Amino acid sequence: MDKFVIEGGERLKGTVKISGSKNAALPLIAATILQKGQYTISNIPRLRDVTTMIKLLSILGGKIEWTGQGTLLIDTTGVENHIAPYELVKEMRASQLVLGSLTGRLKRATVSYPGGCAIGERPIDLHLKGLVALGCDVKIREGYVEVTAKALKGGRITFETVTVGGTENMLMAAALAKGETIIKNAAREPEVVDLARMLKKMGAAIDGEGTEIIRIRGVKDLRPCSYEVIPDRIEAGTFLAACCITRGNITIEGCMPEHIGAVIDKFRETGMEIICDGSTVRASMTKRRPLSVDVKTIPYPGFPTDMQAQIMAPMTISKGVSAITETIFENRMMHVAELRRMGADIRVIGNTAIVKGIETLSGAKVMATDLRAGASLIVAGLAAYGTTEVSRIYHIDRGYEKIEEKLRGLGAKITRRRDENLGP
Ligand code: UD1
Repeated sequence: MDKFVIEGGERLKGTVKISGSKNAALPLIAATILQKGQYTISNIPRLRDVTTMIKLLSILGGKIEWTGQGTLLIDTTGVENHIAPYELVKEMRASQLVLGSLTGRLKRATVSYPGGCAIGERPIDLHLKGLVALGCDVKIREGYVEVTAKALKGGRITFETVTVGGTENMLMAAALAKGETIIKNAAREPEVVDLARMLKKMGAAIDGEGTEIIRIRGVKDLRPCSYEVIPDRIEAGTFLAACCITRGNITIEGCMPEHIGAVIDKFRETGMEIICDGSTVRASMTKRRPLSVDVKTIPYPGFPTDMQAQIMAPMTISKGVSAITETIFENRMMHVAELRRMGADIRVIGNTAIVKGIETLSGAKVMATDLRAGASLIVAGLAAYGTTEVSRIYHIDRGYEKIEEKLRGLGAKITRRRDENLGP
């Protein structure tokens, strides 16, 4: 098992290039199941979650290979197996994204029922209700969700809660259904829009992606396509947090600033100067300490839950008191206890963290409990006095491509080392 060792105190300077979005790439890979044939998907980040999705697709009968930097050649002609096994689904919850595409293609899907996760219960009841609305029969048996359908038909789906994965599964299942499907209270996240765009390139008839109401007119056939994944908005946001806490001056290239509007607004409130120019964001932290800001996570276009942990890091050394409220997941405050080990003054009341800014954090041994919590500990370590060791970084490797190399390119002192204390 590896750990990151960070010597804090370097101001980040220079240019960093953003990778393709993990959360967009995973559903796009799942969508290739829908129609047999050869796909080329580019700008895919090399990450553990992507490797898990590749394994899953191979188990289902697909052939996948990397061809060059960040490009996957996928052939789904041989997909005949409809079972996504426990061993893979427990590794990665996004495995559920094959529910929609397997059902669309094979009219059946058996997917291990995902268990709880470090950040919350994360049920899939809304995905299943949606599939029932499209004419599927859904049973839970021996820890698996078994979906079967004689024929998929269009239906009306109103999600009680905005669900990204649920909306994505419905887009895929409805693409080949007979008749029209209307999804109300649909997720508007850029990753949902990216999936809709790829499905449209495959010949699907979809309208309204990016709004609360999506209409899908089922078509008889789709065709394989080539597609390029959007940049990772959360990675871009994480570098903004790192710039903010280190009083840095960085240029973020290859991102889509329009996808991080709420995040940019918040960082501007902390005193950071941010200039967006096409796919480039220039950020410079002009204040010695960030000003405190209140944050509440909300579905897109609100402030993303995937940035909550990272913005908390600069708030720990802010001037003032900040209230950070998590409304999407019930247990997404695990980084708080670790940040406290670095001296942060944080109290959690219900789903709100009250963060009282202090002058400096002090380096400590801390543990990543999940992907974004891990990222927040790196961000904190960059500005802490002394050495910070972040263990269990396999969580971070799930979602950030070469984060230590990119940070080193900006002048950070961060190295990956073997963690002898934690076994293999
Ligand atoms: C969520 C985030 C997404 C983030 C991802 C990984 C939102 C709206 N979604 O997507 O931005 O990238 O986590 O961190 O911010 N829910 C149910 N029943 C369901 C499905 C969801 O009750 O069947 C609830 C969840 O428990 C959660 C909320 O709906 O409270 C949003 O979940 P959902 O969007 O489905 O989760 P992800 O797709 O994982």
